[in-house]
Amino acid sequence: MSLLGKEACTHFSPLWKLHFNLSTKGGTWRKLISVVGNSEEAIANQLIFLKGKAKMYILPIEQIIAFILKHSISLLLCFLFTIFVVKWRNSTSNPSQNLPPSPPKLPIIGNLHQLGSIPQRSLKSLAQKYGSPMLLHLGSKPVLIISSPDAAEEVMKTHDLIFANRPKAGFAGRLLYNFKDITFAPYGEYWRQIRSICVLQLLSHKRVQSFRSIREEEIALMLETIRESCASSSVIHINKILATLTNNIVSRVAIGKRYSGEESGSRFQELFVEFTMLLGVFNVGDYIPWLAWINNVNGLEAKVKKVAKDFDEYLEKLLEEGVKKQDKRGNNNGGDEKQQENLVDVLLEIQGTDATSFALERDSLKAIIMDMFVGGTDTTSSLLEWAISELLRNTNAMQQLQKEVRQFLGSKSCIQEDDLENLHYLKAVIKEALRLHPPVPLLVPRESSKAVKLMGYDVAAGTQVIINAWAIGRDPKLWEAAEEFQPERFLNSSLDIKGQNFEYIPFGSGRRSCPGSAFAMVTAELALANLMCNFDFQLAGGARPEDLDMTEAHGIVTPRKVPLLLVASLPN
Ligand code: HEM
Repeated sequence: MSLLGKEACTHFSPLWKLHFNLSTKGGTWRKLISVVGNSEEAIANQLIFLKGKAKMYILPIEQIIAFILKHSISLLLCFLFTIFVVKWRNSTSNPSQNLPPSPPKLPIIGNLHQLGSIPQRSLKSLAQKYGSPMLLHLGSKPVLIISSPDAAEEVMKTHDLIFANRPKAGFAGRLLYNFKDITFAPYGEYWRQIRSICVLQLLSHKRVQSFRSIREEEIALMLETIRESCASSSVIHINKILATLTNNIVSRVAIGKRYSGEESGSRFQELFVEFTMLLGVFNVGDYIPWLAWINNVNGLEAKVKKVAKDFDEYLEKLLEEGVKKQDKRGNNNGGDEKQQENLVDVLLEIQGTDATSFALERDSLKAIIMDMFVGGTDTTSSLLEWAISELLRNTNAMQQLQKEVRQFLGSKSCIQEDDLENLHYLKAVIKEALRLHPPVPLLVPRESSKAVKLMGYDVAAGTQVIINAWAIGRDPKLWEAAEEFQPERFLNSSLDIKGQNFEYIPFGSGRRSCPGSAFAMVTAELALANLMCNFDFQLAGGARPEDLDMTEAHGIVTPRKVPLLLVASLPN
């Protein structure tokens, strides 16, 4: 039995579901405990790099809960005990507290059963009834759900400092060297310094500009792949192509070499898929602590250990290569050829100086490198896949975009980065795709470091906070024709991605907002512009655009439930 764990909602969210991969040993199927998810295809879509290694059995969370309740006598005892504790707690809780509205909860699991198969959707429906903020209990943990711009502003602006922490949940600690990366590091001096290193060296406007040739080369390679498919009208799995693009770009700027192509690269691909899955796996012990032993039985514990070890070996090798390169440069007095520095080079250099107020240990270096991959790859490819899906269904928008980019292209062979500032409709298309399909729909969870009043409600210290950016982006009170794809709404609009307008927060806002937004936007815009210039796309198998299934699946970055299969042709 092996486990392939998969996350339910965001790339870092605590709202996980368990996904197990059952395989036979000696031909005997072993019965497994709890498995969650909403469709086999959806998870398979995430596993494109694993090439169908095994069959998966995926059940809804309600069935897990039913299983637990049905099969364990000890649970019954705990159930009775919990009722007792809850009653006792209620009778002793402070009546003067003004808590946010909450839906009724079950003993032990609290509101876990109400997360549904696509949590951003279920939470939106609950918020329509209970409002924003709304207090849920996931197991024994209080979790505040924010689904409106005014409450989001209180969290990410008014009380940003109090909510600048991340909950220590899931397996991030085990996979990312005890929270030594940027995303999961607790708020404080360590986080501040490593974030600023990454921003200065990799993600600042100036650095993003300096990686221009890498982006252009990788996009040219992607166009070549699609061009080859045109000759035979073969079906392309566009997400696979886009994922290779974004992975190669991040890989070249972070570690100085392409992620796909070589043998170690394909091992990295496989490991990375497992890594991101495990990052999102529901760790039952976080919410129902006395059930933590389950991970030893279901194989999750062993899996996390193995992936963490394998990745560590890979990253160690990478750092060793970096050190050798540094030595060689030192011996050459700077070297003959001026190679572009990557993040590993920079981190190794910083390690040898007193640029940080603490020793930048090897574990920190490895965690930071991983963060760039986790944050910077699937997010951008998923955004592009959704944008193309919407364009196929909205012929007017597709035609308008093609007209804009093709007119601009003129006699040139491709759109270049300098051209982007003139392509207003293109920018509006990307913004609209981010509104309807934010790759991180529930943002990255935060946690209150002390008790605070939020919109008149009492929020206790240690409360997790989930901001439903997906629900805010589709709120009909905020957006006209909220469910429609209408890029025009962003033309002549002051709304930008910087997180100043809380009705539009695909990259979050405040201290913990995404530092990679500029990096992501230029990649997404350039890739989409060149795809639309160079090709016409149709759905594979003659499917009609209006029949395209637009539902989301579980996934670290909200993948499509049904992969987008296309046939590309050269424009007349
Ligand atoms: C379309 C692409 C992307 C989207 C939609 C996105 C979205 C987000 C969101 C919503 C957050 C959490 C914000 C919050 O808590 O307020 C975040 C955090 C983060 N993102 Fe991105 N991101 C994208 C691309 C990238 C890229 C390209 C990188 C780096 C190469 C990156 C690195 C990070 C990091 C390191 C954090 C953690 C920041 C912290 O906790 O201080 N992201 N991202």
